[in-house]
Amino acid sequence: MKSIQELSAIISEELVRIEYPKTPRSLYEPIDYILGLGGKRMRPILVLMAYQLFDKNIEKAISPALAIEVFHNFTLLHDDIMDNAPLRRGRKTVHKKWNNNVAILSGDAMLVQAFQLISEADNTIVKQILAVFSKAAIEVCEGQQWDMDFENRSNVSISDYLKMIEHKTAVLLGAALQIGGIIGGGTITEQKHLYAFGRNLGIAFQLKDDLLDAFGDTETFGKQIGGDIMANKKTYLYLKALELSDKDQRKNLEQYFSTNDTSELKVDAVKIIFLNLDIPELTANLISEYHSRAMENLAAINSENKEPLLAFSALLLDRVS
Ligand code: IPE
Ligand code: IPE
Ligand code: MG
Ligand code: MG
Ligand code: MG
Repeated sequence: MKSIQELSAIISEELVRIEYPKTPRSLYEPIDYILGLGGKRMRPILVLMAYQLFDKNIEKAISPALAIEVFHNFTLLHDDIMDNAPLRRGRKTVHKKWNNNVAILSGDAMLVQAFQLISEADNTIVKQILAVFSKAAIEVCEGQQWDMDFENRSNVSISDYLKMIEHKTAVLLGAALQIGGIIGGGTITEQKHLYAFGRNLGIAFQLKDDLLDAFGDTETFGKQIGGDIMANKKTYLYLKALELSDKDQRKNLEQYFSTNDTSELKVDAVKIIFLNLDIPELTANLISEYHSRAMENLAAINSENKEPLLAFSALLLDRVS
């Protein structure tokens, strides 16, 4: 059974082994750039860890694991345009370093490449994997569209938000784990538990991302702090604050979130309201709740090799980056 570090190293080595044509440079350079910036490699590691629950020889799971990482990086290229984000993994985003058109097309090519990598799976299971992967990929688009729509909506509920993050983020973790389980030979029931585990872990993960977006540190987080507040994102932080606010706080929050103001002043003022209402702690509580649910899903699977998944989940929710 391989450790988190070993699996992470395998993924990074395999990613650099993918060779891209030299031209057109503006199509392939950004792909090399974004994949070379690293990141946590969480999704492919989850594929391999799920596989390891059932079998040692991870070889068969590598291409689908890479597919999911390439797909994830594609979503980042487009997400950063949509969110007008200047920083990714501590460096310039692709659309800022090149331009929007470049980020769109390089992203498109990565999406296609992800499907190429999926198609390298064993003949006997490739259809099954393709079905799980495409379903998640479409749902990510649905989640992303809700995320954008909510920027301009004032009647978003916490349950709308949870459904949105389930789609944009959690289903891909679920799919990664289920795919690892399929390749490893897990039963349908085990696959379901793996998917549910990923879904709950993913919701916790996105809640933590939203928390770090406001209260993290640019150095470690690698993204602009306050970006969600600038873009009027209807995160749990905002929605819970609205729920708990008094009349004045509510008026201020609603006022700030109805403008295109992207100033530090707005970010700081909103963060002060969040802090006054104990929003960071309340968010951490909800993260723990989803973490516990994920642990229950994992407990339902019978394997002696669950330790890396347990340790990795804890690490992901404790993270600062
Ligand atoms: C960023 O994903 C997008 C979200 C779902 C929050 P990660 O936090 O996994 O990004 P990297 O790949 O580690 O940079
Ligand atoms: C993005 O959510 C989820 C994706 C599908 C890319 P965010 O917009 O919060 O991700 P970051 O914070 O930019 O990484
Ligand atoms: Mg974003
Ligand atoms: Mg986004
Ligand atoms: Mg974010």
